[in-house]
Amino acid sequence: MLKQYLLTPGPTPVPERVMLAMARPIVHHRMPAFTAIFNEAAEGLKWIFQTKQPVLQLAGSGTLAMEAAIVNTMKRGDKALCVVGGKFGERWRNICKAYGIETVNLDVEWGHAVDPQAVKAALDADDKITAVFSQANESSTGVRHPVEEIAKLTATRERVINVVDAVSALGAFDLPMDKAGFDVLITGSQKALMLPPGQAYIALSDKAWARTESSDLPKFYADLKREKKAQSGGETAYTPAVTLTIGLVESLRMLKEEGLENVFARHDQLARATRAAVEALGCKLYAPTAPSPTVTSVWGPTGLDTGKIVKQLRDKYGVSITGGQDAVKGKIFRVAHLGYFGVFDILTSVTALEMALTDLGVQIQRGVGTAAAEAILAAGPPQK
Ligand SMILES: Cc1ncc(COP(=O)(O)O)c(C=O)c1O
Repeated sequence: MLKQYLLTPGPTPVPERVMLAMARPIVHHRMPAFTAIFNEAAEGLKWIFQTKQPVLQLAGSGTLAMEAAIVNTMKRGDKALCVVGGKFGERWRNICKAYGIETVNLDVEWGHAVDPQAVKAALDADDKITAVFSQANESSTGVRHPVEEIAKLTATRERVINVVDAVSALGAFDLPMDKAGFDVLITGSQKALMLPPGQAYIALSDKAWARTESSDLPKFYADLKREKKAQSGGETAYTPAVTLTIGLVESLRMLKEEGLENVFARHDQLARATRAAVEALGCKLYAPTAPSPTVTSVWGPTGLDTGKIVKQLRDKYGVSITGGQDAVKGKIFRVAHLGYFGVFDILTSVTALEMALTDLGVQIQRGVGTAAAEAILAAGPPQK
């Protein structure tokens, strides 16, 4: 038996409490028992999105919410400014293309955050742009983008909304929707919300809801106006992912018990410990200037295909982490600290990494990564 450790940036581990809640019998989604569950989940989502707006539950993965954001707020002839600094930025561009929306691509070097001044310049240069699409956290590169700064730029432009993919961010670091002025905010179940994959969540500001009135792109399953109407009555337009909504109630209860500030502080502490550990091992951070609080991306040792590290960790030690994609395939690896992660998940990743690197002939001093992580983890999260 090889015990398995799921330490990837999504899907993330699911707490026992949530799994047990989801073992409950299915209830019918048009009956009062479900309405009570649905409404508790809906209230909890508002809390974690930090918004007064309804947060809609969709049965589908995060990409469904990305597609819904586009088809409900854009219309034929609109132009989209897409921040493209990784695989998920590319996805914004690709979905826009699929619906015939012209894109202006703000290409950002992988491993770097977008410069808000570049966003401003792009908006100033083209008044046909009606939306800025970006990621709060670009999971493919482990970069945190300054989405709050982007929101400030769109707030003063009546015709422009900002759309934030927070799939690997929301519930891990502070993204206060109403306060920051995000017009569309999206996440998925299988990340910080500690659930299995299969649900996506999306909220729109008043400015974004107004846009749904004139949006003329084709939509049916992803029609948010229809969902809003149904969900205001405690049910969904079509059959919901009942089990995931039941699990969501439990995971939100857990997060509330911990407290939002503490949840953010925990992610921050785990991220700092991970960075310190890999640097102590002589590895270089891939995104040192804008490191993500949820996934640390790391250059592999020179000459070693990082796919081998990922494989060694998985096949010999049962530890699943992720490698790089596209241009950095084989060059970087990514260690997650997202969702149901605690001190010993980081130590597991780091110790296993030390073992795998040693197996692969990399000259490291065993234990130095673990010691560096322990020093930060033992200090505990920053006290408020
Ligand atoms: C930042 C980001 N956006 C979007 C997605 C897409 O979500 P899904 O795979 O659930 O469709 C992911 C998934 O990893 C992600 O990390």
